[in-house]
Amino acid sequence: MSTVDDRAASGERATAEAADTPVVRVEGLSKRYEGVQALDDVDLDIVDNEVLALVGDNGAGKSTLVKSLTGVISPTAGTIYVRDENGELAEQTIEDPSDAQEVGIETVFQDLALSGQHDVASNVYMGREPRQSNLLGRLLRRVDRDRMEEGATEALAEIGFQVDPTAPTAELSGGQQQATAVARALISDPEIVLLDEPTAEVSVEGSEKILELVERLKDQGRTVVFISHNLDEVFEVADRIAVLRDGKLVQVLDNDPSLDRRDVVGLMTGAVQRLDDGTDETADAASEPETAPGSDGSADEAAATETDTERTADEAAATETDTERTADGS
Ligand SMILES: Nc1ncnc2c1ncn2[C@@H]1O[C@H](COP(=O)(O)OP(=O)(O)OP(=O)(O)O)[C@@H](O)[C@H]1O
Ligand SMILES: [Mg+2]
Repeated sequence: MSTVDDRAASGERATAEAADTPVVRVEGLSKRYEGVQALDDVDLDIVDNEVLALVGDNGAGKSTLVKSLTGVISPTAGTIYVRDENGELAEQTIEDPSDAQEVGIETVFQDLALSGQHDVASNVYMGREPRQSNLLGRLLRRVDRDRMEEGATEALAEIGFQVDPTAPTAELSGGQQQATAVARALISDPEIVLLDEPTAEVSVEGSEKILELVERLKDQGRTVVFISHNLDEVFEVADRIAVLRDGKLVQVLDNDPSLDRRDVVGLMTGAVQRLDDGTDETADAASEPETAPGSDGSADEAAATETDTERTADEAAATETDTERTADGS
């Protein structure tokens, strides 16, 4: 996997261009369910090797964005680009999780999507079970259980968990189940890992491990999208914070020490419309506030006010009911 640093070594011009090339770009991404605009015209770049936190209130559209990127749902409108091996953004049609896996995106879903009646090793290797290498095994396509158990144990140890690979998944603690889902996501060595509320059902100790894991994934050169309701966690691990509200991307902020969590909460709830912190990635020059930081925000509010009539006609027409595909694409 090439990193910004690798590319930086390869020349100034390349540095400027490649370092600026996001690993994923979404443009105009919208998802409408009957009566709900779950995602509304979202433009977002995911930068190479960053930890991007997605925050927002319940129902803001965080999971919908993740599911769109992984082909669990089909967006009503919009385009997804993923950086290809030439370092260029290429449009991708991601129709199911295996399409996402092919372009290096793995996901730990909010509901984990584990099979409770199967054991840990089976869940870690679900859909990509190694086959026995002896002749009979190859002929009969026999699953190599030994390799699965060893591999699952190793994958879990790698992320700091000791879990019996033969244990039925339904009998594990919340943290162990979370770890099993994470191990499954990492088994294919993905470049981009999406973690949808990985700490929600986990003990304090388990949450710490998961935050360490996020940092380790970044150290390994991966790009991580991290969703959490816990702003302490977000402030601890994120490089940038993308705030969603009512399906809209409100603002993307650099997580630097001057960032005030009350402002982030304000953006989440709508009490603050927009921060003028000079790091705005969603910038639309027309709606850039003129006011200085610390102003009462009324001008920002006026500038950022948007009406539902801006929604395009085809989005409104393409109302969809619950047509979610399952996480394994079946
Ligand atoms: N399958 C579905 N059918 C109908 N509406 C849906 C469906 N999935 C999500 N929604 C609606 O879309 C909106 C966005 O939901 P989403 O799950 O993306 O929010 P979220 O930000 O992940 O929230 P949470 O923090 O609670 O996980 C919500 O209003 C939700 O009710
Ligand atoms: Mg969610």
